[in-house]
Amino acid sequence: MRQKFSTWLRGIPLRWRLTAWYVFLLALILAGFSAFIYFNMSRSLKQGLDAVLFSQGEQVLSSLDNENGLLRLDPELPLLPGTYFGIYDAGGKVLDTNMPGDLAAGFQVKGFTAMQPTTVEIKGVEWRILLVPVKEKGQQPCWVLVVRPVEEAEGPLDRLLLFILIAIPMTLVMAAGGGIFLARRALQPIDEIAAKARQISATDLSRRLDLPHGNDEVGHLVATLDEMLDRLDRAFQRQRQFTADASHELRTPLAVIRSEAEAALKRPHSPEEYRQALKVIRDQAIWMGNLVAKLLILARSDEQQEKLEREILNLADLVEGVTAEFQGMAEAKGLELVKVIKENVNIYGDQTRLTQLLANLLDNAIKYTPAGKVVVSLERLGKWALLVIKDTGVGIPPEHLPHIFERFYRVNKARSRAEGGFGLGLSICEWIVRAHNGKIEVESSVGQGTAFKVWLPAS
Ligand SMILES: Nc1ncnc2c1ncn2[C@@H]1O[C@H](COP(=O)(O)OP(=O)(O)O)[C@@H](O)[C@H]1O
Ligand SMILES: [Mg+2]
Repeated sequence: MRQKFSTWLRGIPLRWRLTAWYVFLLALILAGFSAFIYFNMSRSLKQGLDAVLFSQGEQVLSSLDNENGLLRLDPELPLLPGTYFGIYDAGGKVLDTNMPGDLAAGFQVKGFTAMQPTTVEIKGVEWRILLVPVKEKGQQPCWVLVVRPVEEAEGPLDRLLLFILIAIPMTLVMAAGGGIFLARRALQPIDEIAAKARQISATDLSRRLDLPHGNDEVGHLVATLDEMLDRLDRAFQRQRQFTADASHELRTPLAVIRSEAEAALKRPHSPEEYRQALKVIRDQAIWMGNLVAKLLILARSDEQQEKLEREILNLADLVEGVTAEFQGMAEAKGLELVKVIKENVNIYGDQTRLTQLLANLLDNAIKYTPAGKVVVSLERLGKWALLVIKDTGVGIPPEHLPHIFERFYRVNKARSRAEGGFGLGLSICEWIVRAHNGKIEVESSVGQGTAFKVWLPAS
């Protein structure tokens, strides 16, 4: 039910909903405000009426005359128009009055409380009355009643009510009109954005909303959407490039395999020649296998499918172990492989991935270092584990530095390929480090060497 209501509500255009809320709130405020004024005015009018009653009562009392033991009122007494009085004996009989007809008899003075203004209704007319007891020496006790019509206080009140009942709906109608106008004006840019966005499809992500925008909410929305399109565009381009590069990389070994097989099939060969051909084919297959494995890692990491299997690891042990495995490769090239492991550093990470990270970096360092040494160091700096792989190799020219973490990026394509590289190693490293909430940096100078610094959160 509630669900249905909110679905229904969301089906109504925003400008109507905004206006409805606005008018509703305004109605509440106006109603509260009017009620406050109405009740205050009502109270002060009644108080005013009572004050008049008291002062008229005093006048009546002060001009009472005692004629032969009978109370009479001075006929010249200047009472306010609308003020009536009645003098009653202790039994409630009317002694003197200026009320028309038998109105005076209608007031049953016995039931009233003395000195306390009260409202009574007689034949559909409301009266405000004040009853004063009179008791003087040598004279029978009697009552003086002063009366004014309640209408006097209610007339202005009724007029106020009428005004409120007309003015509030009129104000609300005008406010609704203004609200619709303002909401439409404020929301119009959103319609424009929607219309523009509808024209942009996946195939032409290079287009932008390109709407003039200020420094307001709508402006921010336009800017944010344009930025999002920028990112999507770049991601799409990267993906396209990636596919193209991957296909291109696979084409070469496939061509080699095919030509090798065709040559072998063309005419009979010696077993040794066949062996040779098969070896070439196997090597190409291995190479392709490696490439496909790396592509798979990257593709899965893009889809966030490649989950880390994290555990508490002793990073020092891991570095120790992986480095030892590269000792042979370094020695074969005549390089010195040095470990500077300062202390045990534990981190919460994926052993396989971190091994891969270190192996990729060590592989690069040894591959791109013709002579000299490679130093692997590990230390703890505050909350971070800092792993540095520093070599004395060929270095990376500054113009290439910003790109080396890109997929298939190689400074020297021919050389890298000769070494069996695809240009994917560093992009995988970058993903592994990012997945561990760390960061990877590179410093390099041509001919001097390169240092890769990996910061990983220690635990
Ligand atoms: N230690 C290093 N010294 C010099 N150049 C390096 C080093 N590490 C990486 N590079 C450069 O960065 C490029 C990208 O590295 P990587 O992604 O591992 O690809 P690959 O090793 O397959 O060539 C390499 O082709 C190389 O030009
Ligand atoms: Mg590499």
